Amino acid sequence: MTSADRQPTNRLGIRAGPARPLLERDGELAALQEAVAAARAGEGRLVAIEGSAGIGKSSLLAESRAIASGAGMRVLGARAGEHEAEFAFGVVRQLFEQALANASADQRAELLAGAAALVEPLFPALRPGPAPALADSPFAMQHGLYWLAANMAYLKPTCLIVDDLHWADGPSLHWLGYLVRRLEGLPLVVVAATRPPEQGNDAALLDELLTDPAALIIQPAPLTFPSITQLTRMRLGLEPAEAFCAAVAVATGGNPLFVGALLDAIAQERLEPTGAHARAVLGLGPRAISRAVSVRLGRLPPDSIAVARAAAMLGDGSALRHAAALAELDLVVAGRAASRLVRVDLFRAADPIEFFHPVVRSALYDTIDAGTRIVLHRRAAEILAAAGAPPERAAGHLLRVAPAGDPGVVHALRVAADRALASGAYTTAVEYLRRALAEPPEGEERFEVLLELGLAERRMGAPDAVGRLEAAMHAATEPTRRAWAGLEYGRTLFYANRLAGAITVLSEASDALGDDDPDLKERFDAEIIATARWVADFYPLAAERLAAIDETELHGGGGSAQLLATLAVDEAVRCGSREQATRRARQALAMGVLQDEDAIGYQHAVNALFMTGETEKACAAYEQPYGEPGDGETPSRCRTCLASSRTSGFDSVACLTPNPTFARDLSSAEPPRRPRLPSSGTPAHSQRS
Ligand SMILES: Nc1ncnc2c1ncn2[C@@H]1O[C@H](COP(=O)(O)OP(=O)(O)OP(=O)(O)O)[C@@H](O)[C@H]1O
Ligand SMILES: [Mg+2]
Repeated sequence: MTSADRQPTNRLGIRAGPARPLLERDGELAALQEAVAAARAGEGRLVAIEGSAGIGKSSLLAESRAIASGAGMRVLGARAGEHEAEFAFGVVRQLFEQALANASADQRAELLAGAAALVEPLFPALRPGPAPALADSPFAMQHGLYWLAANMAYLKPTCLIVDDLHWADGPSLHWLGYLVRRLEGLPLVVVAATRPPEQGNDAALLDELLTDPAALIIQPAPLTFPSITQLTRMRLGLEPAEAFCAAVAVATGGNPLFVGALLDAIAQERLEPTGAHARAVLGLGPRAISRAVSVRLGRLPPDSIAVARAAAMLGDGSALRHAAALAELDLVVAGRAASRLVRVDLFRAADPIEFFHPVVRSALYDTIDAGTRIVLHRRAAEILAAAGAPPERAAGHLLRVAPAGDPGVVHALRVAADRALASGAYTTAVEYLRRALAEPPEGEERFEVLLELGLAERRMGAPDAVGRLEAAMHAATEPTRRAWAGLEYGRTLFYANRLAGAITVLSEASDALGDDDPDLKERFDAEIIATARWVADFYPLAAERLAAIDETELHGGGGSAQLLATLAVDEAVRCGSREQATRRARQALAMGVLQDEDAIGYQHAVNALFMTGETEKACAAYEQPYGEPGDGETPSRCRTCLASSRTSGFDSVACLTPNPTFARDLSSAEPPRRPRLPSSGTPAHSQRS
């Protein structure tokens, strides 16, 4: 008998904590030990434990935790929840929140040093008072989080443990991918457990992470016949017949979770492990867990059932008081009910509530009919919002509520979308806003949602953006708002390469605006010129509008910055005055508004600086709002800027990024030669020509 034989099994047939030693996992444990040792020596690693539900992933994670702590590493953990995919950076927050909160002020300053400071807004609990603005770029956040992890690891070798990665939110998954490509040289090991990608919330993203050459994949195998015999003998306390064990093996496929649950059901039915009972074993089957949950639930008083179901709605880690409110129970009564749930092994902890196993939560959730779920999700959202929980938590529930024209739902989803956008989680924001639109909102709010959604879709690169912004333009009742929507609609047509359409839309919207809003008018002019420059038929239009600009008459707002940038790049392209081009570009950038808009002006100013040889300034201006380009969701303007810089022959653009792959990619493209502006000094980029 091994020590696994002595491991206590709970009444659902699920072992309390990992069986030690785990059966048939020597190879996996050796690989984990090696990865931890390598990380300690500065060779960062990602180990992904991949397998079906109940195969023993979390048990291996528990072992990894023990191995890493035993090796003196800092261990940070997170577990994704089944219904938390829309909570942007939820997993990342779980990983770091506690460590940051527990750190002294000095340590925290070290952890958040340099680029890591960009992530501070993700952890509002760290600093009282109004939260600082989130970085308006996915790269800035990913880059900042990378540095937070790196700072952690440099201070003390670190192990990040992520369970149920298949349920992780997209931005956290993106970040793990970003991190994995930069693990070299870091004393950091990431150990993650996941079901196969196709069972994940974002199969493609998960697959990408798991197929990264830097990832070591561990796929725990089902238990073999000798182990199943051993577990049967231990659980039933009798020597089992071979045919009986063979039936257990067939019914469970050797899945440790199912083996445990099936043996529990066998014990409940008092089936002796004889050959004659082998058929009955096959009848019990691998659905034993949900059966065991329903049986256990059936024996509980109504209060406990209500708390169990409320908790299943809210998810693992929810506060008891929220479950109490959802179950419409007094907190003391709910507390007693939760303790009972701990005693019957449905919960592992009562507050915050922790389920014994994710399968238990799923089984509980499945006992709630669809109609009741909708009512409870709505109520859950209200409770969480009233309790001041992060808006994403409430929004996650609202996504599962049927549309009912409720302005409160629209508002809550817009707030969550705003936060998702601010952290660069465009896909999440789009999901919230699409649901908000389905509610549907009324009057001006419908215009606002359409506009916000269209802009978010544009950032995501979704073709729906064009139609959405067109609809926003038609939904606006107030002329200035209609003009703004028309401007964004026209810009989107430009990004979609529908240039003639863009010019028509921009010109009509500009004409309809009249002269009431000079700033907006300047924006239209800048946009029309920028678009017309790309279509030969419209060169005269661009020339006419350019000639009409009087630099001394500009109004000094965002539109003026756009026009100055337009003039700067025009001067450079025409090989006019270098001084003029540089001055206008600098002046436009110094106004500090260009980077706040998804307009071409920012690129124009930066490109003008590149073209006049002001490479360092262009690089600095470029890096400031975008962080490190080259990964994942590159915004359209970033990609365009890099592409146009490359085709313009600016070899020095490689200095934009420390990412070697990106630099290699750029330098491998042979740039076409183009004439340069007359120069008094030697521009950096001329050294290679
Ligand atoms: N190698 C093993 N030997 C014996 N028992 C095991 C082994 N691996 C797992 N178990 C037991 O099987 C059950 C399920 O394991 P675990 O929770 O680790 O699975 P999982 O793969 O994480 O499942 P899920 O995908 O649902 O999260 C637990 O009770 C665990 O103790
Ligand atoms: Mg698990």
